[in-house]
Amino acid sequence: MKTIYLDNGATTMVDERVIRVMNPYFSEKYGNASSMHSLGRDAKDALERARTVIAKSINAKSDEIIFTSGGTESNNFAIKGLAFANKDAEKSEISGTHRKTLGKDHIITTKIEHDCVLNSCKWLEKNGFNVTYIDVDKEGFVDLKKLENAITSKTILVSIIHGNNEIGTIQDLEKIGEICRKHDVYFHIDACQSYTKTDIDVKKQNLDLVTLNSHKIHGPKGVGALYIRKGTRIIEWQHGGGHEFNLRSGTENISGIVGFAEAVKLGMDKKHIAHMTKLRDRLTDGVLKIPNTKLNGTKADKRLCNNANFSFRGIEGEAIGGYLDQKGVCSSTGSACSEKTLEPSHVLKAIGLSHEEANGSLRLTLSRFNTEEEIDYVLNVLLGIVKKLRFMSPLGGIANVFKKNN
Ligand SMILES: Cc1ncc(COP(=O)(O)O)c(C=O)c1O
Repeated sequence: MKTIYLDNGATTMVDERVIRVMNPYFSEKYGNASSMHSLGRDAKDALERARTVIAKSINAKSDEIIFTSGGTESNNFAIKGLAFANKDAEKSEISGTHRKTLGKDHIITTKIEHDCVLNSCKWLEKNGFNVTYIDVDKEGFVDLKKLENAITSKTILVSIIHGNNEIGTIQDLEKIGEICRKHDVYFHIDACQSYTKTDIDVKKQNLDLVTLNSHKIHGPKGVGALYIRKGTRIIEWQHGGGHEFNLRSGTENISGIVGFAEAVKLGMDKKHIAHMTKLRDRLTDGVLKIPNTKLNGTKADKRLCNNANFSFRGIEGEAIGGYLDQKGVCSSTGSACSEKTLEPSHVLKAIGLSHEEANGSLRLTLSRFNTEEEIDYVLNVLLGIVKKLRFMSPLGGIANVFKKNN
């Protein structure tokens, strides 16, 4: 049976062209980028070429990109790194920046962040910081008034997820960036899901820190980057031999970084966005024809082009996912990371879903490799699965409604 992979929000298949450019860095060009000999220089050249690719893709300068082990590390680095660098500072020591860093201890984020942001913030709360978790509306947009009102003279940073990993809502970075600039606070975004799927421009959107990773865009796992605007007051994250501008020591993962840059180059082609949007809309239209089914999140262009998230009344998303798996379709219920807990997703709760609606949710996330035929197959099997599960459900009323409408 052919596998139809609709869990690209969790991770993606590595593009063959990415593997091809990575291969020589395992077996031929395996030098350490800090070595002075020719193999070392080859590695260093590849590292710097990759840095330029990533920098250009978000309108940054090369020396503002730090390579990391992925999105989790970049988010930890950004949030904890800023928090500790700005807490006890008497005065900004950074010349050429307008920021006044006077013993601040407050961080603002949202209720719909990835766990690596939420858990970093919770840890900071145990270590003397205050965190405000801003509400979102029922489509998942940050309440900008509440955000602005939450900023105080103690606020260091606003950290926001750009494209949400569960419901796909894309935040208005320009508006949030304007608020951050007006109040002189740092602005960090987690762009793991949105990278290459919608524009990121650090200048236009007034971004100070941007988290990026490779495995959501058909690159290898275990590699990511953090954009840090020049002049940002941040701690050295990993101490050692002074790699990555003295901010994150450790021998660079050259093959991974080269693969990441190739994935970015391939991913920046806008035709992929058009393709995924078309498939997402075909899928959404088809699923919403099933009675008692709703789309979670927002519509059209303010939603990630590859994300669809539905709630099916009266049945469990887990059960639908299990049956889909038997039919060769990979899906997910919420983010892959939170599937370990049986708690309903914090994101779905934050947009106001009831316990039952959250438990009846299913996330289907696409990639440029999916086809219309695959979507039609999924729609067909999904209809059968929902019918069957509703028939078996103790909530007979709903099953009846379903029968009547079909
Ligand atoms: C929005 C978001 N942030 C951060 C991460 C973590 O990234 P990584 O898996 O590279 O550590 C993910 C991946 O699940 C994500 O979707």
